[in-house]
Amino acid sequence: MCEFVFNRMCQTRPGFDSVEFAAFRNTDIQDLHRSLKGYTPTPLLSLPSLAAELGVKEVRVKDESHRLGLNAFKVLGASYAIYRFIKQEWERRFGEPFEIDNLFDGQAGQALGEITFCTATDGNHGRAVAWMAARVSQPAVIYVPENTVQSRVESITKEGARVIVVEGTYDDTVNRVARDAKENGWQIISDTAYPGYLEIPAWVMAGYTTMFREIETALASVKEPGIDIVFIQSGVGSFAAAATWYYVTRYGKNRPKLINVEPCDADCLMESALSTDGEIRSTQGKQNSIMAGLNCGTPSVLAWPIIREGMDMFMSVSDRYCEKAMCRYYYPSGDDPGIISGESGAAGLAGLLALCQEESFAGAREKLGLNANSRILLINTEGATDPVSFRKIVGQKA
Ligand SMILES: Cc1ncc(COP(=O)(O)O)c(C=O)c1O
Repeated sequence: MCEFVFNRMCQTRPGFDSVEFAAFRNTDIQDLHRSLKGYTPTPLLSLPSLAAELGVKEVRVKDESHRLGLNAFKVLGASYAIYRFIKQEWERRFGEPFEIDNLFDGQAGQALGEITFCTATDGNHGRAVAWMAARVSQPAVIYVPENTVQSRVESITKEGARVIVVEGTYDDTVNRVARDAKENGWQIISDTAYPGYLEIPAWVMAGYTTMFREIETALASVKEPGIDIVFIQSGVGSFAAAATWYYVTRYGKNRPKLINVEPCDADCLMESALSTDGEIRSTQGKQNSIMAGLNCGTPSVLAWPIIREGMDMFMSVSDRYCEKAMCRYYYPSGDDPGIISGESGAAGLAGLLALCQEESFAGAREKLGLNANSRILLINTEGATDPVSFRKIVGQKA
């Protein structure tokens, strides 16, 4: 059952000045992304017919289904983190500045020797790490939980990485990587932070901000965001923290309302928002949602404090709403463009549909001020990353 809770800990002007979040202020984030072969900003699409149907002014969708040919936004974080790690190693060992160009001309690899990058993943982040490791001519070992579908495993091996399947959940996979990396001297590039492992996930989150800068440029608006409500789907919350950091830092109290969307089955951020002490909690759910990228049991320790202070509302959505959203994207009405959206990609629209259509969300609609003037931003964070499931879902509902 879809649920919502407003964030009682949300602040009007959160600070985010702590040194742990310094990576967000790095000035080389977009430079790194622009240096990647094939980089181009992803489209910001407008869906006027859907907006009319839902009784709002505008629905815009940032479509990440073809980001750098990888079907998901995740490469923004993995590429930036691997670049920063190599830069840091170079500068530590040789005491001279590292330029982005040195990443791809073989100099870094020759000078630093082999570095094996590894990570736990539900699919998209692992593929992104494998992709970037290949770009910088380094090996990658990617760990997936046992319920990962074959097509996701294959898309990682196609990038040249070794894949290890772990018995258990995503959280079990994270623990196994930590152990193996220590034993083998490998470098973890994780998109989730845990005590003692903060620096790299901070770079991953910082890397995601390129997406929000692209949106801003596309909206060509400097003084005000041009959007009223943003739906952000979450697994461990690194992506949501990047969105929160960006809008809070850019617009302060005039920021759009931020809504976090999770599967009912993996609602660790909602559980954390409900905790009496405001600290991290794990989900009570089985983490078995079709929204595979969001099946995370525990929030990132770095993402949570940002979300806690800047997110307006948390909601959980059922798989049924997710399927509805995938079909709605795929079979548009009027002149709206059709969009290929995988399960986790469609979660934002699932949230919007539930907000507009569920009786039990009437209080949320009112408190958010959702009306005919509302301008909505959704992010389609992935394309058909599980093509078999995608065909089944959109085929069945056709
Ligand atoms: C397609 C997609 N969307 C959203 C997310 C959520 O990102 P995060 O785990 O940073 O909350 C993920 C995570 O893997 C994902 O794969």
